Amino acid sequence: MEKDNDSKDRERIIIENILTRTSDRLFDASKGVEDDKVGTILRAAMSAPTGVNRQPWHFYVVTDKSILLELSEALPYCKMAKDAGVAIVVCGDRRKFLEGVDDTLWVQDLSAASENILLAAHALGLGSVWTALYPHPDRMEKVKGMLGMEEEFVPFNVIPLGYVRTPHKPIDKWNPEAVTYIK
Ligand SMILES: Cc1cc2nc3c(=O)[nH]c(=O)nc-3n(C[C@H](O)[C@H](O)[C@H](O)COP(=O)(O)O)c2cc1C
Repeated sequence: MEKDNDSKDRERIIIENILTRTSDRLFDASKGVEDDKVGTILRAAMSAPTGVNRQPWHFYVVTDKSILLELSEALPYCKMAKDAGVAIVVCGDRRKFLEGVDDTLWVQDLSAASENILLAAHALGLGSVWTALYPHPDRMEKVKGMLGMEEEFVPFNVIPLGYVRTPHKPIDKWNPEAVTYIK
């Protein structure tokens, strides 16, 4: 079936959004992020696929400037958090983890949610960067204490988001050698 121009435009825009996402670390500290954008980003996060549809997650949304500063000072690779408008701390919820051979699937679930956060932010004109907590016990414990998390939550990453001061060019990562076609 021939595609109409609207669906071609939609395809182009969505693929372009994926191909042009970058990790942004230079935020404009004077600009906050609108609540409706944060809401859209959280919806995108929760739209991710999860094993057995467990949705084993919890999201802390930090806009408190003193906590953003604390995150940037406490975490070695999250210095940019101090200038972010908001940081989303993606956590696992142990009560929803699978058991047995699937007991680490939550990592994949939270990774899918995290990528959705990055892509939604980019589509909304915001910069973002995934900064790792898991699997570093020291970083996880610091953030857990800082945010006063319930025992059952497992801090996974911190994603600072904001309007960027200097957008940088996306890296072209296309590598045909990383693909094997079985025809
Ligand atoms: C699991 C994971 C952990 C990462 N941890 C950090 C981090 O702690 N700090 C940081 O600045 N960037 C971090 N990044 C971002 C990567 O450095 C970035 O994705 C990579 O350099 C490719 O650049 P791009 O995202 O602009 O394509 C992380 C990314 C992933 C997926």
